[in-house]
This record gives sequence, C-alpha cells and structure tokens, in this order.
Amino acid sequence: MKKRYVLEVTAAALILAAAGFWYLGREERLPQEKQSLRIGVALYRGDDPFINNIRSKLEEKAKEYEKATGIKIVLEVEDSKDNQNTQNSQVDRFLSLGYDAICVNMVDRSVASYVINKAMDADIPVVFFNREPVEEDMNRWERLYYVGEDAKESAVLQGNILVEAYKEDEGSLDLNGDGKVSYVLLEGESSHQDSLIRTEWSVQTLKDGGVPLERLTGGIANWDRSQASALMEQWEEQFGDSIEVVICNNDEMALGAADALERAGNTRAVKIVGIDGTPQGIEGLKAGKIYGTVQCDSEEYAEVIFETAVAEALGQNVQEKIEFQNGKYYQCRQVALTADTLP
Ligand code: GAL
Repeated sequence: MKKRYVLEVTAAALILAAAGFWYLGREERLPQEKQSLRIGVALYRGDDPFINNIRSKLEEKAKEYEKATGIKIVLEVEDSKDNQNTQNSQVDRFLSLGYDAICVNMVDRSVASYVINKAMDADIPVVFFNREPVEEDMNRWERLYYVGEDAKESAVLQGNILVEAYKEDEGSLDLNGDGKVSYVLLEGESSHQDSLIRTEWSVQTLKDGGVPLERLTGGIANWDRSQASALMEQWEEQFGDSIEVVICNNDEMALGAADALERAGNTRAVKIVGIDGTPQGIEGLKAGKIYGTVQCDSEEYAEVIFETAVAEALGQNVQEKIEFQNGKYYQCRQVALTADTLP
C-alpha cells in the first residue's frame, strides 16, 4: 500500500515537473514579453517624394502601434543617398546591433543577395519594398517579403484616364485636330522593375482604347522633376505645338514637364499624366498642372511593411495577418484620379 502511494506521488511529481519545464520553456519562447522592438529602415533616397511619403506613414504607424500596445518601437530610418555601399553598411549596422527586423528599399535591386546573406546569417527578417529583388533572391528564405504595386495595373489605370477623356471629347487630346494624338513619354530609371511595364502598358491601353497615337519622342528622367523638366524643355523647342499629351511614369516627372511648359509660356491644354498620387502630385492635380494620376494607397503600403516587420519580430504567423502572394509578395491598392474624381 505504502509502496503504491510512493509510486503515485512520484508519478504525480514527475508529471508536474514535466509540465513546469514545458511551461517555462514555452514562456521563454513567448516573444510577447518583448517590451520594445527595433526596426531598421534603409531608403534608396530620402529625397524621393514617393518614398518620403511612405516614410512618414511608417513613422505614424509606429506611433499608433506604441499607443495601442504599450510596446515601444524604435524605428531607425537611414537615407542611403543612392549609394549601394552606403546602404550595405547601414544594413550591416542594423544587423550587428541585433535589430528585430529590417525594411529595405534597395538602391540597386539586382544586388539584394548581399543584404539577404547577412540577414540570413543573423536570422533577422527583411521586408523589401518598392525596388524588387530578383525572384531567385526572394526565394532563398521564407523570412523575406516584398511590398510594392502592380506596374501593369498602374499603367492600365493611367492609360484609361486618357482613353476616357478622348471618348468624351476627341479634341481634348487631339488639340490640333489632325486625327492623331501626338505624345511624348517620360520614363523612370531603366533599372527599376516598374518603368518598362508602366511605359508599355500605358501606351498599349491607349491603343486598345482606340486612341490614334503618334509617338514624338521619349526619354529617361529617372523619376526626377528637374531631369524631366530639362528634357521637356528640349522637346518643347523641337516639337512645339505638336505635343498634345505627356505620359509620365510618375508624378514628379509629370510636375517637371508642367514646369517646362509653364516656363515656355505654353498655355495649350496639353494633358500630362503621372503615377503615385503623392501629396505633391495631388497638389499639381488640384492646381491644373497635371491632368491625372494613379494613386497608390500609401496608408496600406506603410501598414503592410510595418505589420509584417512587427509580426516577424514577434515570431507571429505573418500569413495569418497579411495575405502575401506565394507567401512573399504584396501589391498595394491603386486608384485613378483626375481633378473631377478627387475625393
Ligand atoms: C516608383 C515611384 C517613383 C519612385 C520610384 C523609386 O514606384 O513611382 O516615383 O519613387 O518608385 O523607386
């Protein structure tokens, strides 16, 4: 009897001890205990208005999250100033300081393997955004994500803004009434994954929509307002009143084109379209400088980047929170805007 009692007590004690160890082990792994998170962000250029807008939104998200959860967020944002070596050193620093997650807007998207190798060694997740690493790199690890926009969608929306204007009134595009809509095209960086697709599908959408197009010329202005303005100035001298439409891969270049037309004293109703819907772009739209844009939902953009970084940092299941395509890719919402459809 006594022996059986001893056995029972021993068994109960063992079960309790095992449960205790399991619980303690579980507690140790529970990342909810983290009272603060450190997230490093590296921007390809801090002076790019579209990127800057996302940066402000990220900062807002971090503050909101702190308020809602009491978890302190240290969000350190670095400007890589268009230099990949600078960016690599910034990433190295984040990793050596043991940041919980990093968000990288690559300077040169073709060399993301450097960042990936280092992040994998340090076991720190990476949310890439806006400048997409090649698929081969993205597939190297499950803790890599990409947040961006569907370039074909932006372009089709942009093209349709002009198709609709043409359908409503052909003369609003074909200003000189010669039966052709003559356009010039301003393109983003040639190395950016979206430039070529935006250009191709914008023009294709106009053709599909039955607009009789004539391409006068085109050029690369690297997303930049002053480069676009300089090109447009040359084209204005070269083609003068033949220019009826200016298709731009982003709003900054659209604003640059508008600057040049203004400087040249061109008051014809040349239609300029952009993409991004940055605060500056929307101002331009309101002021009548540009006719239309495609706005990317920057709230959603920043939220997905931030929530992914936080969920990864806390060891939560990211897929349960955000629906990534193939577990890795997220394309943000976009909407076409003209002065008439501004909210
Ligand atoms: C594009 C955006 C451009 C520029 C570029 C930088 O998506 O339309 O304005 O910000 O990203 O990579």
